[in-house]
Amino acid sequence: MGLLQEKLAKYNLPQQFMAKGVYPYFREIEGKQGTEVEMGGHKVLMFGSNAYTGLTGDERVIEAGINAMHKYGSGCAGSRFLNGTLDLHVQLEKELAAFVGKDEALCFSTGFTVNSGVISCLTDRNDYIICDDRDHASIVDGRRLSFSQQLKYKHNDMADLEKQLQKCNPDSVKLIVVDGVFSMEGDLANLPEIVRLKHKYNATIMVDEAHGLGVFGKQGRGVCDHFGLTDEIDLIMGTFSKSLASIGGFIAADESIINWLRHNARTYIFSASNTPAATAAALEALHIIQNEPERLEALWEATNYALKRFREAGFEIGATESPIIPLYVRDTDKTFMVTKLAFDEGVFINPVIPPACAPQDTLVRVALMATHTKEQIDSAVEKLTKAFKTLDIL
Ligand SMILES: Cc1ncc(COP(=O)(O)O)c(C=O)c1O
Repeated sequence: MGLLQEKLAKYNLPQQFMAKGVYPYFREIEGKQGTEVEMGGHKVLMFGSNAYTGLTGDERVIEAGINAMHKYGSGCAGSRFLNGTLDLHVQLEKELAAFVGKDEALCFSTGFTVNSGVISCLTDRNDYIICDDRDHASIVDGRRLSFSQQLKYKHNDMADLEKQLQKCNPDSVKLIVVDGVFSMEGDLANLPEIVRLKHKYNATIMVDEAHGLGVFGKQGRGVCDHFGLTDEIDLIMGTFSKSLASIGGFIAADESIINWLRHNARTYIFSASNTPAATAAALEALHIIQNEPERLEALWEATNYALKRFREAGFEIGATESPIIPLYVRDTDKTFMVTKLAFDEGVFINPVIPPACAPQDTLVRVALMATHTKEQIDSAVEKLTKAFKTLDIL
């Protein structure tokens, strides 16, 4: 056995949970993603999806993907920079920029590569990147890849953000990067206060709209629009893997920033462009969310109903204001066990343990879609209540 294998053979945490019968990962879904999914020949209620708009199984989105594959083929065989740009990519970029209210946009192959490629290349050695300590892993990795000085503030603690800004050289660029909606806790970034501090300290703001797009703001334009602060936010990032029912991501900003990124973001230049099918599916989903306001209304009806039901049932759900509902467990073993009990009862939810949260904050994450019915929500609340009570969490 080589040294590497010897070292890695000691890593057996997953096997420990498998031995206990509570390993919750890589569960196989045998059909389309909707509010119900087929698993092991059974129907399971899906409360673990990020497809807030409920469009992943929509026939129009699927058709758009199929047609693009027929027209353009299965892949682009190169990066956007060289042979991988389609007219379809450019159309999607134009429509996304207009949708989120910025001059221009660039599409990347995933949301993760937007954050890792954009954040790492904007600032230099003498500049600062400042993040909320609950920012998504892709933001953390973008920050780590940068040569800039790196500062963190306590989650949504604006006094701590100001403290970090005071440490910075006033003449250097100070890039504040935040999740608009925090992906595990479901609470919103305090954008009004962050914008106030931007002006006070001459900083720049980038907002990750992964969980805001299709959910907040007019027609689902995102959290920046929800707060009426689009013009104050310098860079808006989004992903296609949630409300846009596909895979890919984008960054939108003014012309000078996009010109820089187009020629310097390494995950954009040195990685193949998004597939025709994925690009066309995202474009179709973008059209649907603009043309069907009833979808956004249905999402909020389901969300408000679920929030009320979980609160009434006595769950600790933190400060969520979104379709992401964290049910705090505060114990890693019990988090896995409750996930398993819920699954056995036919409810799919996601366990959240470190490093996705602090060790004392483990939780199971329930996520709503526009297509969930009240009956499905009632059933999930009932089954989760039973599972939580069995383990003395509730
Ligand atoms: C806040 C946030 N940013 C970025 C990403 C990465 O997006 P993608 O899945 O499209 O790579 C995610 C996905 O989990 C996310 O939750």
